[in-house]
Amino acid sequence: MELLNGSLISNTIKTELQAKVNDRKAKGLKVPHLAAIIVGDDGASKTYVQSKVKSCLDLGYESTLIELSENTTQDELLNKINQLNNDPLIDGYIVQLPLPRHIDETAVLLAVDPAKDVDGFHPENVGRMALGLPAYLPATPSGIVELLSRYNIETAGKKCVILGRSHIVGMPMSLLMQRNHPFGNCTVTVVHSKSQNVIEECQKADILIAAIGKPYFVTSEMVKEGAVVIDVGITRVADSTKKSGFKLAGDVDFEHVAQKTSYITPVPGGVGPMTIASLLMNTMQAVEIKNN
Ligand code: GUN
Repeated sequence: MELLNGSLISNTIKTELQAKVNDRKAKGLKVPHLAAIIVGDDGASKTYVQSKVKSCLDLGYESTLIELSENTTQDELLNKINQLNNDPLIDGYIVQLPLPRHIDETAVLLAVDPAKDVDGFHPENVGRMALGLPAYLPATPSGIVELLSRYNIETAGKKCVILGRSHIVGMPMSLLMQRNHPFGNCTVTVVHSKSQNVIEECQKADILIAAIGKPYFVTSEMVKEGAVVIDVGITRVADSTKKSGFKLAGDVDFEHVAQKTSYITPVPGGVGPMTIASLLMNTMQAVEIKNN
């Protein structure tokens, strides 16, 4: 078994991006500027957004964090989005999900300028991805493909089982793993809440990607000997031995599953850092496309 070390690969990518930033500075070009909007006080979401902003600053990107209160109206949020769309200094931005219940997520995602949609959530980018056209790819699935590519893991012709069909991970992941690409070309099965024979489906997977947000859902009996296991889950579970009172749990029972796998991602330090690296790559792409 070999660990897929997302922290290490993410640091390598950050070093590559930092060199690009320095190069742009030396040429008098604009450095990338990422903005992030967060609505409400969800602790985990705040932590994620803050680490995105911090990573930007570490690399020499510019970064703006817009924190809006839980009772922000949909119109207020749409106004903020409109401002970002029209701000020439902002190359790309994200609206952290989930949003409070009173806000229509689809209306918000539709309002984002597809050219600044570095999360790749706008229907135009989702459609372009599905058709294999140039697009911003969503950060978590493209980070996983990047991780597979950096470890040179063969995917062509393999059976890939994806647990979960969320718009953020499962659905785009299924498109990326089946596309005609050096780290695609899988036969993909998406397992979801209405699926039957979940255990048997997982047992057939050469590559198993768990993205359902249920701690320790994937047990040893569900994993084929030698499989590649990617754990997207990152749920806070109570842990009185920790100062914070919680620890981060993946969707995979790592302790019992790891020994059966050829490669596996840890939680934390696997997919999470790759998501941030992808977002930073997309933001670099945004500034490079504008060619200024
Ligand atoms: N919530 C969980 N993952 C993500 C992500 O990749 N982007 C945004 N905007 N929100 C998220």
